[in-house]
Amino acid sequence: MSLAFDVRAGDPARVATPLLAIALPAEPAFPRALAALDAKYGGALSRAVRRKDFQGGKDEALLLFAPEGGPERVLLVGMGTADRVKGITRAATLAGRRANALGVGRVAFWADGLEEAALEGAVIGLSLGGWEFKELHTPAPAAKRRKPLAAATLLVPNVRAARGPLAAGVAVAEGQRLTRRLAMLPGNICTPEYLARTARDIAKRHRLTVKVFGRRDLQRMKMGSFLAVAQGTAQDPKLIVLEYKGGRRGDAPVALVGKGLCFDSGGISIKPAAGMEAMKFDMSGAAGVLGAMEAIARMKLRVNVVGLVGSTTNMLGGEAMKPGDVVRASNGKTIEIQNTDAEGRLVLADVLTYAQRYKPQACVDAATLTGACVVALGNTTVGVLGNDQAVVDEVLAAGRRGGEVGWQLPMFDEYKELIKSDVADMRNIGGRGAGTITAALFLAEFAEGMPWVHLDVAGTAYSETDLVVMPKGPTGTPVRTFVEFVRGRAR
Ligand code: BES
Ligand code: MN
Ligand code: ZN
Repeated sequence: MSLAFDVRAGDPARVATPLLAIALPAEPAFPRALAALDAKYGGALSRAVRRKDFQGGKDEALLLFAPEGGPERVLLVGMGTADRVKGITRAATLAGRRANALGVGRVAFWADGLEEAALEGAVIGLSLGGWEFKELHTPAPAAKRRKPLAAATLLVPNVRAARGPLAAGVAVAEGQRLTRRLAMLPGNICTPEYLARTARDIAKRHRLTVKVFGRRDLQRMKMGSFLAVAQGTAQDPKLIVLEYKGGRRGDAPVALVGKGLCFDSGGISIKPAAGMEAMKFDMSGAAGVLGAMEAIARMKLRVNVVGLVGSTTNMLGGEAMKPGDVVRASNGKTIEIQNTDAEGRLVLADVLTYAQRYKPQACVDAATLTGACVVALGNTTVGVLGNDQAVVDEVLAAGRRGGEVGWQLPMFDEYKELIKSDVADMRNIGGRGAGTITAALFLAEFAEGMPWVHLDVAGTAYSETDLVVMPKGPTGTPVRTFVEFVRGRAR
């Protein structure tokens, strides 16, 4: 369920709401604009600040109940010392999560001068903070059921000026909610066919062009690399193409590409059993592309964008690909498969080749591609690699704006030695070291001639632990990086 937003101006003391969240910076001076509200609370708000019960730190929250009238509860939330927009976004996310947990159904949000980027951030925060995945639980009996967060009111200085940032925030949040939901859905429900249906639904609601190719089409297009992965599953693999035409006719599009492994068992090079269930998240790149297309279409950005998803599952079986097999990708290059668990790059090889026919102004792919990326950068930093430094820098900046920080790894020629094969043009694994880099160098063989950036989101697309502002599970990364990048390219 998504959140309904409205905006209003005026004194927060006069808002009728079960919960008013107030974001304050670190070491706050109690804002004058809250004097009337403070009076309603018998001075408890300013006292909490003065006595340092509340210090405005990151993820700090203090809940107070009204003695009478006005907002029934006030939640002070800290912005910490981060920059203002990030601080407000995070405070709003925590507020959304608390509001949802309290079961109050709706929330109002106030921060000093809530305009433009700060307002957009607040909208995104509240919406994603209120997000949870409950659809596969049997609902609690009606008497015990708490109200999920369904509505939010933003208290703004200027209602007219709020319209744009509100719409943008809702667009981004809805895109990210879609991404999180798709990623959370298990592999038996979220199949390649399911992703294709989701793409068709996006296309229908926003008048995009959609194409879905199945196994027969992939054979016709000689996508031997993608097909090798799909050999082990009875499910029809899908190459999904969504075309959004917000730009001038004939303008080269931005291409967004996503790895869509609805489950990755490793194949014949099978993964260990412990934790294998997390490999339902191996379609997070694809979910990110679909979420970004949803957001971009809602925002009506003036730019052409093509979203491409390569989706299948990596399974074992009598027909499955095996170590030593040599396949030919659609660009004619041959690949020796030495490890069937390095399947993402095999899928992306043909999807990147397909992207080339659009002659994109830039191509950005996202993939949960390597465990090595988690080793190198952990769970908070996206691995970024590419063949065009200017575009890499642009993507890094987009990630910073969207709160999805990336870090570049090198693609020095020397590493290329590591993916040489005795029997084919390349092999699908490198040596023990530099796993994220050798994976990217493999992809680069299929991105030749187009400005291309690769995001390795293996560590950042989902979390194995609760992250304070979101439950464990999918984070929504890389939607904001995609959207900010495309926004930066819009007219
Ligand atoms: N989907 C995995 C990468 C992954 C690992 C994502 C952990 C998220 C968390 C990918 O298909 C994979 O298995 N990669 C192998 C490559 C290796 C065989 C060269 C890996 O990282 O172990
Ligand atoms: Mn794998
Ligand atoms: Zn994988």
